Amino acid sequence: MRRFFVTGNWKMNNTIAEAKALMAAMTPELEAIDSVDKAVAPSYLAVPAIAELCKGTGIKVGAQNLFWEESGAYTGEVAPAMVAEVCDFVIVGHSERRQFFGETDETVNQRLKAALAAGLHVIVCVGETLEENEAGQTESVVTHQLVKGLEGITETQAADITIAYEPVWAIGTGRAATPEDANRVHKDLIRPLLRQQFGEARAALMRIQYGGSIKPDNAAELFAMSDIDGGLVGGASLKADSFVAIVKAAAMVTIVEHESKK
Ligand code: PGA
Repeated sequence: MRRFFVTGNWKMNNTIAEAKALMAAMTPELEAIDSVDKAVAPSYLAVPAIAELCKGTGIKVGAQNLFWEESGAYTGEVAPAMVAEVCDFVIVGHSERRQFFGETDETVNQRLKAALAAGLHVIVCVGETLEENEAGQTESVVTHQLVKGLEGITETQAADITIAYEPVWAIGTGRAATPEDANRVHKDLIRPLLRQQFGEARAALMRIQYGGSIKPDNAAELFAMSDIDGGLVGGASLKADSFVAIVKAAAMVTIVEHESKK
């Protein structure tokens, strides 16, 4: 049976006080949903407070980025061991990092390796821009991002990796990919690439999240697709009721899939 993985990416939102209030508002309901893996990624400064609140709840807490060097003269950066001290996971290669902060496939790969070495689970983001999509370059762009991003990663290490497919044109725009289009990329492009590198068994177990304008009203139809194994949720994770509704949608799909297999 599939186990969905739904992550709230809070991006650069919420002071520590606001983050704590948001977490407190959604923890009881999230905690009650056992059948879905739930996670939040607050901004760095709020991470320790949120990790404290999530202790014993089963809700995972992660960072939105990290640097690959162990320590030293890198003003403003956070090292893998520092992240691992507080976090369960880290997001790398988010399109906003690529677009605004010079992230490349090579630096994604460096961050990924350093994060895995520090014992973190890693959500690796890929996705094409609107121009690339309209130029029919989705396949080549996503292939390049994945092949380069995952270069040198072994099958064993892949157990600690989740892929997030986030078409850039769908992020924060209210314009989600259709479930069918998203699933096509997951099933016919990303999963086969994972199979090629890590083998059939590992690729089948790896989770591929969809990200880009997931909302309570489109979550169930996205999660119902064969190869959409959860979501990386931005805007809708900033409100307790909408994030809870999205996690509930994943739980519902789990029940439906379980029943249909009987
Ligand atoms: P969105 O963001 O849900 O606001 O579109 C998704 C993401 O960038 O992780």
